[in-house]
Amino acid sequence: MQILKRTVSKPSAFFSLNLIKVSLTNLLIPLYRHHHCYYHHQHNIKSFSRTMSVSAISDELKKLGLSQPDPVKESLPEYNIVDVFKNYITDELHRITEADKSIIFDALDTPKVLDQGDIIVALPRLRIKGIKPNEKSQEWAEQFNKGKFISEARPQGVFIQFFFNRSLVYDLVIKDVLKRKTEYGYLPLGVGKKAIVEFSSPNIAKPFHAGHLRSTIIGGFISNLYEKLGWEVVRINYLGDWGKQFGLLAVGFEKYGSEEQLAKDPINHLFEVYVKVNNDVREEASEATGEPAVADAADADEKKVQASSTNEKARQFFRRMEDGDESALKIWRRFRDLSIDKYIDTYARLNIKYDYYSGESQVPQEKMKEATKLFEDKGLVHVDRGAKLIDLTKFNKKLGKALVEKSDGTSLYLTRDVGEAIKRYETYKFDKMIYVIASQQDLHCQQFFEILKQMGFEWAKNLEHINFGMVQGMSTRKGNVVFLDNILQETKEKMHDVMKKNADKYAQIEEPDKIAELVGISAVMIQDFQSKRILNYEFKWDRMTSFEGDTGPYLQYAHSRLSSMQRKSDISEEELENANFDLLTEPCAANLVRTLLQYPDIIRRASHNNEPSTIVTYLFTLCHIVSQCYDILWVAGQEREVATARLALYAATKQVIYNGMTLLGLTPVERM
Ligand SMILES: *[C@@H]1O[C@H](CO)[C@@H](O)[C@H](O)[C@H]1NC(C)=O
Repeated sequence: MQILKRTVSKPSAFFSLNLIKVSLTNLLIPLYRHHHCYYHHQHNIKSFSRTMSVSAISDELKKLGLSQPDPVKESLPEYNIVDVFKNYITDELHRITEADKSIIFDALDTPKVLDQGDIIVALPRLRIKGIKPNEKSQEWAEQFNKGKFISEARPQGVFIQFFFNRSLVYDLVIKDVLKRKTEYGYLPLGVGKKAIVEFSSPNIAKPFHAGHLRSTIIGGFISNLYEKLGWEVVRINYLGDWGKQFGLLAVGFEKYGSEEQLAKDPINHLFEVYVKVNNDVREEASEATGEPAVADAADADEKKVQASSTNEKARQFFRRMEDGDESALKIWRRFRDLSIDKYIDTYARLNIKYDYYSGESQVPQEKMKEATKLFEDKGLVHVDRGAKLIDLTKFNKKLGKALVEKSDGTSLYLTRDVGEAIKRYETYKFDKMIYVIASQQDLHCQQFFEILKQMGFEWAKNLEHINFGMVQGMSTRKGNVVFLDNILQETKEKMHDVMKKNADKYAQIEEPDKIAELVGISAVMIQDFQSKRILNYEFKWDRMTSFEGDTGPYLQYAHSRLSSMQRKSDISEEELENANFDLLTEPCAANLVRTLLQYPDIIRRASHNNEPSTIVTYLFTLCHIVSQCYDILWVAGQEREVATARLALYAATKQVIYNGMTLLGLTPVERM
């Protein structure tokens, strides 16, 4: 029974093999110690700079003769300037209405456009009985003491719209962004907590399909996001690195392998070998039985391939691996290690670095047995024709029955996942564990989480499945076989072609190859991140590599344009921080600052919905607004004071675009 897999491939024209095997249970071994050390080192630097800036906003207010308004429990006014204003409004509305402070705070919304205020409150949401909101909005707006924080409280039907003191906002926001730099947007919501994020999980010697790509980049984003929220994050790649496919590979390598090729390009070479040996088995079996060939020998029903002598050799080899035969394990280990070395380089191109490369190979047999025993002890299992099942309909009708052990005694995917989760909890004592797996696995994840809950594990409530839809039409020039490496190579080539179309500009690019790579990766990732995760989308090379419309290249272009503006000027960072922001009087400046101000709240929203699209949509809004400013807020040829204030605004914008892009996992380019 081969239904449950980390990522299921949609059989499509360009994948010759519809296989993508499972990645399963394993012990967690830190394979690369130096990566581990580097991770902690980085972590320390981060905490250091964070402590430094903890009272930055209060300090700035103090300079202006103001103090922090009374904070509401849920607010983070030392990290999020919007919360400073919300606290002020909450305090005033509480004084006037006597409504509960956290109810008021929760009722404060950010309207879409500035015309409707910086903050808006719908009075019915204050849950005060027996009032006419239409009348009260008038009365309360008049009673509202605006102080230095608010410039206007405007009644509008059942709403009150609040407008912030522009000059105060400019002072606080632009300075805060320029000071905090990459830390702007950080919110310490998860400090002291640990999250495990499992993502990507390819299968050695098998194609890396679109589902793996999505898991990789969405998982990368989720990990970054949790770090932005102060969590300690452990990134785990759960490789499919055990099973009969290794028997096939070993037999195939003897026949078709080349040491030279293996050293040069292990992933592609092992796959070539796999395809050849797989064909041998298919042909041998189909010749003997007269039946049509199976798709994949490692996944096929053993009865259908047993007539093949190659299959028999592979089976025996895998048996030796399972029995712990060192000579067999040595061969397997080489394939695995070489593949991982290559994976590390490829993931680095996407700015992803795993803390652990795990894999089904490190099977903690005792954990599986422990799990099976617990199923029995808790009275969860019943036997049906020799197979062991857990009836989950008792707990939730939709979950059905889950098969946990086949009649021949072999454990299934689900049992392995359970064993693995127990192991991980023992190792890490995580506060949350996230599985980034395609939505085809929704039922599997629900079953698996429910089983852990019924087994009595209190931490089962801290498991989360972050799912996503499918990608259609991702094929490359080379045709049907796709590995992450090939996808990235292809993207780079396509991007290079697009760049060459503008010959003049192309001639000015210093490192076209590198730029094509980085901009190309942005194209792939932005296309993926643009809509809600759960939606399917079509992979469109031409659209995603275009500089027009909301694309990765457009985002890169916006960033590089702002970078070049700063590069061309002789105004120092210190001057920028101390600019006279009263000189920014134009409405487009107000719009831009307002958008910069929202960034921490955008991070907070993304933390609720785990949607990269929340960040992407925000970044495009920001880019559109700044591009409207270029025609109005000139820097070149202006008086120095005016130029300084404007450039400070642009520098802050560039920083926020940079922060958003890196959060997504992109590398923003300085020139292109
Ligand atoms: C707005 O804030 C500034 C400080 O940046 C302050 O000097 C000014 O008085 C405030 N404006 C109003 C109308 O309170």
